[in-house]
Amino acid sequence: MLTKICRVDEKRIDSRVIEEAAAFIQRGELVAFPTETVYGLGANGLDERACAEIYRAKGRPSDNPLILHVAEPRDIVQYAYEDEKGLLWRLANEFMPGPLTVVLKKRSVVPSATTGGLDTVAIRCPANPVARELIRMSGVPIAAPSANRSGSPSPTKAEHVIHDLDGRISMILHGQRAAIGVESTIVSLCDDGVHLLRPGFITVEDLERVCDRIQMDKAVTRKLNENERPMAPGMKYRHYAPETELVMIEGEDDKVLDFFDRSLEEGCGVLCFDEDVRHFSSGDRWKQVDSYGSRGDALKQANLLFDVLRRVDQMGVEKVYVRAPLRDGVGLAVFNRLIKACSYQLIRLE
Ligand code: TXA
Ligand code: MG
Repeated sequence: MLTKICRVDEKRIDSRVIEEAAAFIQRGELVAFPTETVYGLGANGLDERACAEIYRAKGRPSDNPLILHVAEPRDIVQYAYEDEKGLLWRLANEFMPGPLTVVLKKRSVVPSATTGGLDTVAIRCPANPVARELIRMSGVPIAAPSANRSGSPSPTKAEHVIHDLDGRISMILHGQRAAIGVESTIVSLCDDGVHLLRPGFITVEDLERVCDRIQMDKAVTRKLNENERPMAPGMKYRHYAPETELVMIEGEDDKVLDFFDRSLEEGCGVLCFDEDVRHFSSGDRWKQVDSYGSRGDALKQANLLFDVLRRVDQMGVEKVYVRAPLRDGVGLAVFNRLIKACSYQLIRLE
């Protein structure tokens, strides 16, 4: 299949390009597009066959439900029932359009191919103007997972999408680098109150300012036991993972740096904070050391993380030790993506 790749500037959108992309969506074909979180792989969310194509192109298990993207927050209620407590509108007023996804009871217009057979649906109104224009011109809600091959890190640049999906989909809208760099925060409003299923740029602290109590799903920070199920089906898969084995290291500066020194001697790689890099002497070892942002800047870490994870396999080592981020604010989103990339291998240095 020939994939058409077109550049779009989110500040000066060429509507002919978006029209062409919208025509593909209307014909049941797939278009990758930029959002403020990560690039999405879009299809008509009301068309079962089009949604099935998403699973094929990504190589993704079809029990993993898709997020439905709408152009305006008010469109949410065309596809889902609002919750009884009015939490939807409180959250929408504060965070939409933006990087927040809400899970609600679905209406029957949404086919079960979109929701992996669930009676609930995840919906988000992205802030990126290219994404919104595409949804508007398509005239349908766009179902879109992240536009990566299943299992590899989510794409934050058009180059990542081209690497993973060129030749497998009809069109790629080549926009700017994703402003945020990790996927949206997901909350469910289906049970009592607000349940956090996946952390993101909108933090627990942000949500608590608007809603009283946030309950965090266990799958956010740890591996579930055989008999436990995550509230978001996608949280159970090994995600974001390079081929190289990753192990997370958590602890004080001196202990972690000492551990890293010994690891480099044993021929392993290290992924650390910017400040840690100068600790290592130059020479051949620099190839085995990479960093993912400054210690106190979780926003930057979130922004760099997936790009850095895509480079890990080029270190040429079998194992890479990754310094754990702080777990508060946006750091929780970084921790969540990293612990999964590490297949939950975590060493705490006391
Ligand atoms: O930022 C984002 O959310 C990006 C951009 C493209 O919008 N999309 C994205 O989609 O990250 P995806 O498919 O990679 O992740 C969707 C997550 C999965 O973990 C899935 O299990 C969960 O959302 N999900 C979808 N529908 C759900 C539902 N009805 N109930 C619970 N979890 C759901
Ligand atoms: Mg994904």
